[in-house]
Amino acid sequence: MTIKHVGVVGCGAMGSGIVQVILQGGYDVIVQESTGQFLEQGLARVEKGVAKLSVKGSISEEDSRNMLARLSGTLNTADLKDCDLIIEAVFEEIEIKKELFNTLDGICKPETIFASNTSSLSITEMSAATQRKGRVVGLHFFNPVPLMPLVEVVKTLSTEPDVIQGALSFAKSIGKVPVLAKDQAGFIVNLLLTPFMLDAMHAAANGVASVGDIDKAMKLGCNHPMGPLMLADFIGLDVIYNACQVMFEEYSDSRYAPPPILRKMVLVGNRGLKSGRGFYDWSDPKKPVPWVADGQF
Ligand SMILES: NC(=O)c1ccc[n+]([C@@H]2O[C@H](COP(=O)([O-])OP(=O)(O)OC[C@H]3O[C@@H](n4cnc5c(N)ncnc54)[C@H](O)[C@@H]3O)[C@@H](O)[C@H]2O)c1
Repeated sequence: MTIKHVGVVGCGAMGSGIVQVILQGGYDVIVQESTGQFLEQGLARVEKGVAKLSVKGSISEEDSRNMLARLSGTLNTADLKDCDLIIEAVFEEIEIKKELFNTLDGICKPETIFASNTSSLSITEMSAATQRKGRVVGLHFFNPVPLMPLVEVVKTLSTEPDVIQGALSFAKSIGKVPVLAKDQAGFIVNLLLTPFMLDAMHAAANGVASVGDIDKAMKLGCNHPMGPLMLADFIGLDVIYNACQVMFEEYSDSRYAPPPILRKMVLVGNRGLKSGRGFYDWSDPKKPVPWVADGQF
């Protein structure tokens, strides 16, 4: 199975990074968006990312021109019909993803692989919306895609061995390090990381220590690059809330139950860095200040 033409659907935060690394891997890429404005913004993000590489001296200006010449954008799903691999990075909503895969199923050749970048939804459920269950796989990238080396390759009960091998080889060919996980909520990273962040929220809400000291302890005591509460703010408290609900539903395990403080934060719009406030006040994103002092939750 040879992958040459790659389609990416959704050119937001993740899609634009995914497009960039696939271009760096030497592939032709066609990216599809839902509106002209999103497409324009997404392509501009890709161009900015590629320009950064040439400013840093990682690639020449000619390389960056050649790279961008292999990229095209469209608003029309039918334009993806000749792709060998299509990666979706649209909104984290199962119905949107299922509808997309169902539409693509009727357009693409039978051997085309469909991959999802979902963080928490079921790849199996998406595959069931197609007549090609064996050719559906997860390719879970991490944010920011150009900098994060890991890709989780996710197999369902039906994913065919050549598709798994193809996905692993593809990830390596774009400079990533793949790991293989089965399709269960959270895959590997979020399965292990989520209870850790939720425990930190419980500790803060119970007044075990201040937000700043919890993060400082895990940073300096465990050599983590940042503490769990700051990481939660970076990821987005709404994203974590949705993901832990999905995991709680799947495992019925209290480790994944959303802590009340997380629910309250999301309800009042404190979604972390992107909303300006979460466990930290991000008025100056370079100098986050713990927002809540001890016991105020
Ligand atoms: N942000 C992260 O840290 C992160 C990390 C790993 C995985 N993910 C997953 O990646 C996916 C995308 O997340 P994101 O953060 O890039 O979201 P985003 O909101 O930044 O981008 C989503 C893009 O998809 C487009 N879109 C929506 N429906 C579409 C459709 N039917 N056809 C074409 N385009 C469509 C939107 O216009 C938008 O530009 C989600 O499944 C998310 O769970 C996100």
